[in-house]
Amino acid sequence: STRLTATAEQVAAEAAELVRDARARLLAGGSVRVDTKSSETDVVTAVDRDTERFVRAKLAELRPGEPVVGEEDGGDLTPGGVNWVVDPIDGTVNFLYGYPWFAVSLAAQVDGVSVAGAVVEPVSGRRWTATRGGGAFLDGRPLRVGAPERLELALVGTGFAYRVDRRLRQAELVAGLLGRVRDIRRAGAASLELCAVGAGWTDAYFEHGLNRWDWAAGALVAAEAGAVVGLPGEEPALGEDLTFAAAPSIAGALREAIADGGGAGV
Ligand code: IPD
Ligand code: CA
Ligand code: CA
Ligand code: CA
Repeated sequence: STRLTATAEQVAAEAAELVRDARARLLAGGSVRVDTKSSETDVVTAVDRDTERFVRAKLAELRPGEPVVGEEDGGDLTPGGVNWVVDPIDGTVNFLYGYPWFAVSLAAQVDGVSVAGAVVEPVSGRRWTATRGGGAFLDGRPLRVGAPERLELALVGTGFAYRVDRRLRQAELVAGLLGRVRDIRRAGAASLELCAVGAGWTDAYFEHGLNRWDWAAGALVAAEAGAVVGLPGEEPALGEDLTFAAAPSIAGALREAIADGGGAGV
């Protein structure tokens, strides 16, 4: 599937250029149409929609007939063959504010399992790629997770889904964990948080309530870099909708801490 990875990287990189240009126009004082989705804080911009449309058109040209599932235009997974899973802008709120951490995420999945993926950052141009069984790379250099000695020395990324009940549950967990880890990061783009674990920029990441397009490419990057990864539905004991990636040295301890409600007795 290195050919699928090359396609994912090419299409994501071209889409990232569109997003970068749109950001430049915004920063220069331009405006963008913003609508809300599930709640007032769950926003989508015209750039999200245009970018997904571009990705779909490009895939139709390069990989005709292969179904696409995306955040903005939906679609269903089709069993048996290759499906593409796209998040046109992961980190829309960051994009809207000019905060430079957001990405185009594109993965190829077979029967719901990621086999190839690319996460491309429009601002820095960084390209994170992975192929199932073939390793993970940042701009072509192989990635390896960190090896913190224990949970107390681990830098842990997290995120908050838009639904308020989920946010509050996650906040409680994070509050419980704060006293037991080196520190917490919440940078606002799930795909990149997963890639960051792969690079050893953080030691772990966990969030409840992600959608397939949030994790499809990033979780493959983390796993191929050596992280222990858990996807929604895989660890019901820790919550049906948990996405989890951790350096192997602390994965067990973090899992226990999550099961324990963060570990501070809350
Ligand atoms: C969101 C971001 C955010 C995460 C949310 C996602 P979007 O994706 O990845 O970091 O906490 O759960 O929904 O809406 O910016 O594509
Ligand atoms: Ca969104
Ligand atoms: Ca997303
Ligand atoms: Ca998005």
